[in-house]
Amino acid sequence: MPLIAPSMLSADFLHLEKDVETVNSCADIFHLDIMDGVLVPNISYGFPVVEAIASKASKPMDAHLMIIHPEKYVERFAKTGAAMLSAHLEAMEDPSAVMGLIRSCGMKAGIAFNPDMPVEKVFRYLDCCDFVLVMSVFAGFGGQKFIESTYERIRTLKSEIDRRGLDVRIEVDGGVSPANSSALAAAGADILVAGSAVFKSDDPVAVVKAMK
Ligand code: DX5
Ligand code: ZN
Repeated sequence: MPLIAPSMLSADFLHLEKDVETVNSCADIFHLDIMDGVLVPNISYGFPVVEAIASKASKPMDAHLMIIHPEKYVERFAKTGAAMLSAHLEAMEDPSAVMGLIRSCGMKAGIAFNPDMPVEKVFRYLDCCDFVLVMSVFAGFGGQKFIESTYERIRTLKSEIDRRGLDVRIEVDGGVSPANSSALAAAGADILVAGSAVFKSDDPVAVVKAMK
């Protein structure tokens, strides 16, 4: 059964505690999208919001850094209590070093990459990360349409991980909903991130249950 990670980007920021409690009650992981307006053409939220969520979260937090120079903020995210931290392959000069830094701060280390990055480019870093974040939309905004070629990318990645006998999870992010969750899990995804499908629905708990 996949783990479900609601993306708080689509939460109701005027009633954030309510949406944090929803995740606590029915989902597995808090997915936190951090955007700098430079690596991606949007700005999301920063530490005050992450710390507010942390103060009420009873499930692990997974911060997805869509920022340049991610290495500058690894220690600060560790201090928020984040359990998982991913940075984009497009933003790292030395991905192995960044993954090592994340692990040395006690977090699971993930490599994220956009849909136009050949999936094979991540193969050489599979030994130094704990999870791979496959973007199924271009990073930057919630509510985009799922890109169908993602299934094939996940299958390719999954077979490489299995062939090498590695302990690396696959997380998929963007346009994920009950309509594609079982096919994504069948392709090899372990963690499903969903923002608008969960929080823009009338019944977020039912949506999370349907995805499980
Ligand atoms: C996009 C973010 C996603 C986004 C997902 O750059 O990484 O986590 O919030 O939102 P939905 O599920 O609406 O595509
Ligand atoms: Zn994300």
